[in-house]
Amino acid sequence: MEEKLPANSRILSGMRPTGKLHLGHYHGVLKNWIELQHEYDCFFFVADWHALTTHYEEAHIIAPSVWDMVIDWLAAGVNPGMAHLFIQSRVPEHAELHLLLSMITPLGWLERVPTYKDQQEQLKEKDLATYGFLGYPLLQSADILIYKAAGVPVGEDQVAHVELTREVARRFNHIYGREPGFEEKAEEAIRKMGKKNAKLYRDLRRRYQEQGDHEALEVARALLDGQQNLSIGDRERLFGYLEGSGRIILPEPQALLTEAARMPGLDGRKMSKSYGNTIGLREPLEEVEKKIRTMPTDPARVRRTDPGNPDVCPVWQFHLVYSDDETRKWVREGCTTAGIGCLDCKQPVIDAVKAELGPIHERAAEYEEDPSTVRNVIEQGCEEARDVARDTLAEVRDAMGLNYK
Ligand code: TRP
Ligand code: SF4
Repeated sequence: MEEKLPANSRILSGMRPTGKLHLGHYHGVLKNWIELQHEYDCFFFVADWHALTTHYEEAHIIAPSVWDMVIDWLAAGVNPGMAHLFIQSRVPEHAELHLLLSMITPLGWLERVPTYKDQQEQLKEKDLATYGFLGYPLLQSADILIYKAAGVPVGEDQVAHVELTREVARRFNHIYGREPGFEEKAEEAIRKMGKKNAKLYRDLRRRYQEQGDHEALEVARALLDGQQNLSIGDRERLFGYLEGSGRIILPEPQALLTEAARMPGLDGRKMSKSYGNTIGLREPLEEVEKKIRTMPTDPARVRRTDPGNPDVCPVWQFHLVYSDDETRKWVREGCTTAGIGCLDCKQPVIDAVKAELGPIHERAAEYEEDPSTVRNVIEQGCEEARDVARDTLAEVRDAMGLNYK
């Protein structure tokens, strides 16, 4: 992860419900979410509208995937007592913000997002020359900005979407944050902070604007965060005034790049549904065992007496995820000297994967038996999300002059 955010910062992330989750999702995303939920105010959501942009012809797969995915999250350890879990389409404010942002987003910005062309090439069997698909990253921007999220945990492929979000926020603030009499209002707001803090703010602002001192900027932001006696409007003014722009209505989020927790698939390529090399989070343990037992090994190791090379073996990739140094040493020695067989080698992996999945299966079974619990978690999460989303949207409408009385 890059820079650390202040404790309790708001974090937002979403996942598309297009099928069952597997170990790739668990190691690549969920474990990270589970860590983040302890430290930050996390909003995790089911991006069902995003699923629709690519799966509009098979929309029926979305509904079951939504509930399966929430169960997978809960079973993996995402805690609804700590994080807010919700479904995108149940918070229609996302759609309104998407619409409003679409007014100011140049077409070229969307056409240039790398995933736009890449996905169209990769998913040739689908017609993705649609308005909705072009707007995919802008809908994602609305998802993020409506919660004024400070951090967005994403994989490499999504960084461009967070970057677009930052540009859209900047443009929005630039166009709609310039109210008449901005400087006077900002100066008035500074005086409300009291003598000492006002002086501190002015000093820090000068240091940032005259010397480009980023630390001063951070300290000034923290100072503003701690000002209980400022209204939201005044605080936004002073954030903007710091940087020399207008009022900051939509703050720019930061991408929290999940370190390349690359979960190998059964064939050694990245684990992915499209490669058919996955181990499902809720796959029966006997099948998981069978899959690992039959997964390919070093192709040059034909007979038990042939020495092998772990570096070209998918099983070794699993040892890198699951085994300690001692086991890895045993593998390397045993493999290269033909001291162990491939089934011996696979056994610790089988044990580790089963030990990981066992508790997940138990928790999943409890939720499967009691769907109302899952419904309630989502119900509550949607309400919490809407509370925040509604407030942001009111500010956005206000800034755009859409609050007709
Ligand atoms: N596009 C993301 C993906 O495919 C899912 C997503 C939608 C998302 N909205 C988001 C992720 C907002 C982070 C923040 O993985
Ligand atoms: Fe792969 Fe292990 Fe067999 Fe070596 S012994 S080829 S590392 S499965």
